[in-house]
Amino acid sequence: MSIDSRTPPAQLPQSNDPCWCGSGRRYKRCHKGLEGRITPGVISPMRAVPSNIARPPYADTGKVTRWDEPRVKSPDVIARMRVACDMAADILRLAGEFVRPGITTNDIDVFVHDLTIERGAYPSPLNYHGYPKSVCTSVNEVICHGIPDSTVLHDGDIINLDVTCYVDGVHGDTNATFFVGNVDDENRRLVRVTEECTWKGIGAVKPDRPLSDIGKAIEDHANKHRLGVVRAFIGHGIGEQFHTDVQVLHYYDARNNMIMKPGMVFTIEPMITLGTWQHKMWDDDWTAVTADGKRTAQFEHTVLVTETGVDVLTAGPKAVSPRDPS
Ligand code: MF3
Ligand code: CO
Ligand code: CO
Repeated sequence: MSIDSRTPPAQLPQSNDPCWCGSGRRYKRCHKGLEGRITPGVISPMRAVPSNIARPPYADTGKVTRWDEPRVKSPDVIARMRVACDMAADILRLAGEFVRPGITTNDIDVFVHDLTIERGAYPSPLNYHGYPKSVCTSVNEVICHGIPDSTVLHDGDIINLDVTCYVDGVHGDTNATFFVGNVDDENRRLVRVTEECTWKGIGAVKPDRPLSDIGKAIEDHANKHRLGVVRAFIGHGIGEQFHTDVQVLHYYDARNNMIMKPGMVFTIEPMITLGTWQHKMWDDDWTAVTADGKRTAQFEHTVLVTETGVDVLTAGPKAVSPRDPS
């Protein structure tokens, strides 16, 4: 049983009375003025991964020690990444089909966790820098890294699911934003343009060009639609480690001048907003929300730079089909 902390009663309490959500806190210290916003729910205990599944180095400690991983991957690493990326894309698609009004974000975590293990992979987010769950679930004004909890999905919400699989020593990382029931036109447009932004960025991937071409393509498209581009979270190199030193900005900055070379693998994952690009952090130090409370969407792919352009490793036949841009 979960308490739906997003459905206030018709008659709201007085400031000093107990909050309507059942937390036991005073209304003024809990949901007052936050009706309609996403607020922290109850996080269930961390789930276990069976011992037959190979674990990344941080799985037991929550501590991530980085090492100097080659930016240009060997054919062997690329072949293994294709498998991890296909799997992440397949699980993301199935998780998206599972989304509906009335379920909790924790229900989605259970679904992704169990499916990942069933496929023989480790869910990369679990205990990464101490992250407590196996998928990120970011609802409405949550930009990214929302932690699955007792929050109930409502008709009209939008939710980003970010799935990463660790299998055969490598990670594959992809995310998409899904509709919960019937979503209004403004939010449909936000999600559509965000997906377009991601593909504009992917279209700018070319060997011997600087990474800044990607941010330029994304920002131009967002500007054209008068939408904001979040700056605090960026795409990243990926491979044997979840995040490597390659940084992919989603806005134009001439200093993002690393040259793309065939064999490099990184993510492109723009977060686009209806209002400000500025963010605020919750006290959990994970959940990032828009500073103005307006909604935001995100799509992510893991891409390989080829001799002639790009190979989108997380867009295989098992992936969520890109929305028709019409
Ligand atoms: N998958 C996210 C990304 O796109 C990272 C999640 S980090 C976690 O980079 F710890 F929250 F899992
Ligand atoms: Co990523
Ligand atoms: Co991701």
